[in-house]
Amino acid sequence: MADLSPGAVPGYAPDAFAGAVVFITGGASGIGAACARAFAAAGARVAVGDLRAEGTAAVAREVNGMALPCDVRDDAAVEAAVAAVVARHGRLDVAVNAAGVGGLEVKTAEYPPASWDAVVDVNLTGVFRCLRNEIPAMLAGGGGAIVNVASVAGLAGFPRHPAYAAAKHGVVGLTRSAALEYVRQGLRINALCPGFTWTPMVEGMVANGTPRDALERGIPARRLGTVEEMASVVLALCAPSNAFLVGQAIAVDGGMTAG
Ligand SMILES: NC(=O)c1ccc[n+]([C@@H]2O[C@H](COP(=O)([O-])OP(=O)(O)OC[C@H]3O[C@@H](n4cnc5c(N)ncnc54)[C@H](O)[C@@H]3O)[C@@H](O)[C@H]2O)c1
Repeated sequence: MADLSPGAVPGYAPDAFAGAVVFITGGASGIGAACARAFAAAGARVAVGDLRAEGTAAVAREVNGMALPCDVRDDAAVEAAVAAVVARHGRLDVAVNAAGVGGLEVKTAEYPPASWDAVVDVNLTGVFRCLRNEIPAMLAGGGGAIVNVASVAGLAGFPRHPAYAAAKHGVVGLTRSAALEYVRQGLRINALCPGFTWTPMVEGMVANGTPRDALERGIPARRLGTVEEMASVVLALCAPSNAFLVGQAIAVDGGMTAG
């Protein structure tokens, strides 16, 4: 019998995304970097976009792809990055919008407005900036698939993280709206809603005093997710065999939102 234990799930076949051109924001780290590796392993040509130039270059080298340092708070930078992908490869087939920041851990009434703006600018408006540049590039090639990385905090409240939760709920609404707009043009847009996953973002929460075992106790599976598990679902959302998956916000959370 096949090994069905966690972590034993095989990756996609080396040619599953052969020739597909994939642009990934937040690709220098965590979930975005895992997506870059998974798409490259499945035969795609990957372009890594991220604020951090060094990390962007490192992951791009690893996947033999393009390094596109860019800030999703800057529309011109996003436009230039998408244009560079199209200039190099002649098309854009897949985009994963994973760039994000956690923001402060503060109750709503005490949340500093400037910090609110900063979190929404990256996590919600950043996704909008990506979409408004990615969508025309994809339509020009006949369509494609986009995954916006939201969060379980886009599906349920997240006390002491009001800006993050509001931005991620916004990403889910944006995903559903855009999905309905473009589905008949061959473009599918979905959202991944990860639960707690061991990445530098969650390492930061733990370093700031949230005990890791407290996070794990809140997850029915009693463990954090892995970046490979997130990438696996991102590839599934983009796979042509799942072409009927449209405008969904898929929780990958060890059961956190099931109860
Ligand atoms: N790790 C989790 O538990 C978890 C849970 C739910 C959702 N998410 C979401 O997953 C996505 C990836 O997060 P991660 O956990 O891999 O964290 P991470 O910190 O490892 O990666 C986030 C990446 O985004 C980049 N980034 C930040 N601001 C940017 C900007 N303005 N422009 C371009 N790039 C920018 C960072 O440089 C970093 O490389 C985020 O959107 C996050 O909100 C993570």
